[in-house]
Amino acid sequence: MKLNSVLAALSVGLFVWTGPASAAVDVPAAEALLKAEKCVKCHDAVKSKKGPSFKVTAAKYKAGPDAEAALIKRITEGSDDHEAIGTKDAKAIKNLAEWILTQ
Ligand code: HEC
Repeated sequence: MKLNSVLAALSVGLFVWTGPASAAVDVPAAEALLKAEKCVKCHDAVKSKKGPSFKVTAAKYKAGPDAEAALIKRITEGSDDHEAIGTKDAKAIKNLAEWILTQ
């Protein structure tokens, strides 16, 4: 039937569309970690505060090679004027880096 094939195409489309985003990044976990680590004091997803917005950071890292690895390095090692993240939970940090890169 014609309607059936339209519905089938629609559900495949929805699956493809919602699949990768929801499977890849745990958004509430990333946001909770940013709060717990007090990153939100200086960073926002879209607004630049004391630090650059994560949108700006995502664009910057995506323009370079190995965006996720470079960002994880930056978060875990910090810099002369930036503290490293407190947690040692590699999975949580990876999830946070992936979340930042989706901003
Ligand atoms: C006291 C304010 C402050 C806090 C708290 C803070 N940041 Fe930052 N952050 C900055 C500033 C200022 C910069 C830009 C200067 C620099 O790169 O060090 C920055 C830069 C960064 C960058 C690099 C951005 C780029 O475009 O290269 C990342 C990634 C980052 N912060 C993540 C975090 C995370 C994750 C946390 C929480 C663990 C955090 N920051 C906590 C102020 C802060």
